[in-house]
Amino acid sequence: MSQEVLRIENLKQHFTSGKGIFAKGYTIKAVDGVSFSVKRGETLGLVGESGCGKSTLGRTILKLYEPTEGKIFFEGEDITDFTVKQMRPLRKDMQVVFQDPLESLNQRHTIGMILEEPFVIHNIGTSAERRKWAAELLEKVGLPADAITRYPHEFSGGQRQRIGIARAIALKPKLLICDESVSALDVSVQAQIINLLLKLQQEMNLAMIFISHDLSVVRQVSDNVAVMYFGEMVEYGPAKEVYQSPKADYTKTLLSAIPVNHPKDRKKKRKAELESKKISAGTPQQETA
Ligand SMILES: Nc1ncnc2c1ncn2[C@@H]1O[C@H](COP(=O)(O)OP(=O)(O)OP(=O)(O)O)[C@@H](O)[C@H]1O
Ligand SMILES: [Mg+2]
Repeated sequence: MSQEVLRIENLKQHFTSGKGIFAKGYTIKAVDGVSFSVKRGETLGLVGESGCGKSTLGRTILKLYEPTEGKIFFEGEDITDFTVKQMRPLRKDMQVVFQDPLESLNQRHTIGMILEEPFVIHNIGTSAERRKWAAELLEKVGLPADAITRYPHEFSGGQRQRIGIARAIALKPKLLICDESVSALDVSVQAQIINLLLKLQQEMNLAMIFISHDLSVVRQVSDNVAVMYFGEMVEYGPAKEVYQSPKADYTKTLLSAIPVNHPKDRKKKRKAELESKKISAGTPQQETA
């Protein structure tokens, strides 16, 4: 069996905005011709500044958006044109962990309910089995057993991220997309969550896409790295090569950039820079359609 879990070819995601009776609208080329593959047990780091299209690419791979162009192969099967119904059985094989689990965890549900939910949705196991699996998941991500009866707001950011990860791995996915999953955490907590992800990846032989604007974090986890700039992939290769001898000028600039202390501040700064670039230069990705 092939080791390749995901392959995308020339994937594009264009959004049309501002269209109305009088306005022609313009196209945002959020993802513009990206190709890569991820094998079992392997991590692809996806880096680039805020707004370059990382999350959109993740969503397009998960088929939360219909791709504008290109191909998506999952476990060798072309899923590009799969319908919602065809995607349903595949949903458990592709999971995502977001930046802020508070937004994605139901505040009114106990951790037990949150962790049992994936099994309920996919109609797996009896209620006794689901309870047992939820307890096992908690242990797997290093949370105390009594967490099961508590609520998301009772936990710290790092602990909540552990809950988000537990839920994402509940159905033993083949592909895990982590979208800025450690970006909101303090550096020491970041390291703990990264270690947890790496441990789980090894145990479960997971293919992982690790999205981050933070190059030093990506370096710690990635086998391969893809660098995005305004929707395009400007560099792609083994992490070691990309970091030691980057080919693209943009990667060189990213690597030489002086880090701002707090990741949140850095994100804000990048966003502001990008925004001003768009306004002053007339962005290369926005065209009148
Ligand atoms: N649903 C949408 N409709 C229209 N435009 C969108 C949509 N989603 C994203 N965009 C635009 O596509 C571009 C890429 O956004 P995206 O969120 O993918 O970037 P990102 O790299 O994940 O940024 P960040 O690091 O801030 O998370 C941006 O210009 C954004 O405004
Ligand atoms: Mg994003």
